[in-house]
Amino acid sequence: ETVEWEAASFDMGGHDTYMHKEISEQPDAVDRVLRGRIDDRFSTVHLGGLNLDPREARTIRRIKILGCGTSYHAGLIGAGLIESMARIPADAEPASEFRYRNPVVDPDTLYIAVSQSGETYDVLAAVQELKRKGARVLGVVNVVGSAIAREADGGVYVHAGPEVCVVSTKCFTNTVVAFALLALHLGRIRDLSVTDGKRIIEGLRKLPEQIGEILQNEDEIKKLAEEYAGAQSMMFIGRVRGYPVALEASLKLKEISYIHAEAYPASELKHGPLALIEPALPTVAIVPDDDLLEKNRAALEEIKARSGRILAVAHQPQEKADHTIVVPKNEDELDAILMGIPLQLFAYHTALAMGRDIDKPRNLAKSVTVE
Ligand code: AGP
Repeated sequence: ETVEWEAASFDMGGHDTYMHKEISEQPDAVDRVLRGRIDDRFSTVHLGGLNLDPREARTIRRIKILGCGTSYHAGLIGAGLIESMARIPADAEPASEFRYRNPVVDPDTLYIAVSQSGETYDVLAAVQELKRKGARVLGVVNVVGSAIAREADGGVYVHAGPEVCVVSTKCFTNTVVAFALLALHLGRIRDLSVTDGKRIIEGLRKLPEQIGEILQNEDEIKKLAEEYAGAQSMMFIGRVRGYPVALEASLKLKEISYIHAEAYPASELKHGPLALIEPALPTVAIVPDDDLLEKNRAALEEIKARSGRILAVAHQPQEKADHTIVVPKNEDELDAILMGIPLQLFAYHTALAMGRDIDKPRNLAKSVTVE
């Protein structure tokens, strides 16, 4: 049993597919999730529906984020943002796994359920089980008034607008931005300095324009996608903040092009997947210009030494890569938001070159409301 959006009721606005429309809408969507929430006076953000007063926020000892698919990947980035800005230990887990392993529910842990639709059954069931055990659960949800939004004690709406394409793009980006807002909010209640708060706010404000710049490179990304579309399989690698970006980019490619793709932390290459590297297996590498740049470059060298083809997403052209998609630099914490965007277009144009039904990939439904 699945819930179908009434696609016909949404205008495609001159785009050939909803996916393309939704990718293109991201500057406006990000603008929406930020709107009215930034507080310059205290270098923080206001999140009206959170239902978490500062005293309670200070008692949180851990954060556990639960979601499925793309929302789980957004949660992984969210966990990293919360750890780095609020210094609260945080991790993300697929909701489906969490609910079947009889987890220890700890009163000092804040649980966060992530869902575009707000109806995904595994996430809803996890929320209900947590609530039954007395846990505090927040939602990071797109659809207002959805089941998960109603069950949660409070939360942050993602405000991406309706997402029709089965594969999530703008909602992923907005969810990560919503997590950045939450991380900033919790950070400023705890130990994040005014200066760092200000720095993150400036970074957040730059996002819509920078996303616009990335989208302007569509022709170049399209050419690259057409070049790589013949591959039978692709490897995606990233490190720390870049790893969830690699996971999400590989999921996107799988979902709409049906090309097999794997995502690995770049640091794990030598523990096994390096054996796969050969000219027929291209690697997409996330290479931000941050404190891990040299480490990431070393991974590119290892791949090149085995004659692997490399497409890098980076802040400057990478010598060892065959091609680099250059994206604008933001604050280190926020770079992951931008680095995912060209890879949405990459997956899109790969699938288009292969003649796939992009908005309705085989075997998938927009909302999975059953177990
Ligand atoms: C996204 O491209 C997927 N089709 C899928 O992984 C999705 O993110 C997942 O089913 C969770 O959906 P939700 O965000 O509506 O809960």
